[in-house]
Amino acid sequence: MLEIRNLTTEPEATEGVDPRTIEFGRDNSPNFFVMDYSDGQWRNARIEPVQPFVLHPAANVLHYAQTIFEGLKAYRQPSGSIALFRPNLNAARFHRSARRMSIPAVEEGAFLDAVSALVTNERNLVPPEPGCLYVRPSIIGVEPSVGLKSSNAFTFFILTYPSGPYFGHAGEGAGSIDVLVSTSVTRACQGGMGNVKAGANYAGTLAILERAKELGCAQVLFLDAVGHRGVEEMGGMNLIFLQNGALRTPPLSETILDGVTRDSVLAIAEDFGLGVEEEFISIDELVAGLRDGSVTEAIACGTAAVTTGIKTFRFEDGSVVPVGTVCPGPVTSQLYERLVGIQYGLLPDPHGWVHPVV
Ligand SMILES: Cc1ncc(COP(=O)(O)O)c(C=O)c1O
Repeated sequence: MLEIRNLTTEPEATEGVDPRTIEFGRDNSPNFFVMDYSDGQWRNARIEPVQPFVLHPAANVLHYAQTIFEGLKAYRQPSGSIALFRPNLNAARFHRSARRMSIPAVEEGAFLDAVSALVTNERNLVPPEPGCLYVRPSIIGVEPSVGLKSSNAFTFFILTYPSGPYFGHAGEGAGSIDVLVSTSVTRACQGGMGNVKAGANYAGTLAILERAKELGCAQVLFLDAVGHRGVEEMGGMNLIFLQNGALRTPPLSETILDGVTRDSVLAIAEDFGLGVEEEFISIDELVAGLRDGSVTEAIACGTAAVTTGIKTFRFEDGSVVPVGTVCPGPVTSQLYERLVGIQYGLLPDPHGWVHPVV
């Protein structure tokens, strides 16, 4: 058990806020978890009021982006208690991300203790369904040296955000978005770090994401870095299609993040009796399937988005290919209802995914 000093008092509940109106990830709760790494060990775990860090301008993270993060949510249950959803998978992925980025790993049990202690402390600020408390653990390299080497000092911290919907549609079902297919920018390559949550993966996608937004698209679909044909994933979400009544998605690889939602959606699909195929899908095959009507739904899935229907794929040459006739489609909506129902404790949890913290 991680020993954590608590230097705060529990924040009081804010009454009368409609959870649908809280902007996702904008205003953090008042307290955060912090732990320091120096002289070869993690030490001084504490929960304290959020305050700016003092960083030397040469801090490793500012120059060489030695930083990783995670994202998970805490959900208010019907009894008023608070639960996390499969946080062991986030703990394991954080561990893998740390190893890949030469960051001293936080032991998975310590990660879970830290997240649970902070969520417990901030429990009064967890909005009811369809809101949540978004939990953002990060590690940054803080050694002040511009020599190109791994930092010898790190800070692990966790912020939490009382949040409403990511795409502004929670409480009204799965919602829908338009997606820009990027043939000019790739996100990840073999031997790279696309399958871990390194901050640098995301920095490289911001310019094309801004361009997508100008075109009315909420996400960017990235293709493989070698042939520029293989469908991989979006900047912050995995991608699943419904084709001829079965779910199809690219298999996990070095270039695709192992999404907790992806895994959960595939398991729920099997519970529904839907076929699940994890195989290479080329963009040409996808477009052909959209045009001949065999691909009827495209689903963006991630902790933030849950499952969101994709209405259209827009290409950089200006062409637009619509998906199916209804968006979100019926399967996207059924998956959404089942997943959200489990997360909020409103439906049975046959897989044992819900992890109560308080
Ligand atoms: C690149 C990328 N892919 C997929 C996902 C979805 O993962 P998860 O379902 O664990 O949130 C995320 C979000 O964390 C992501 O950043």
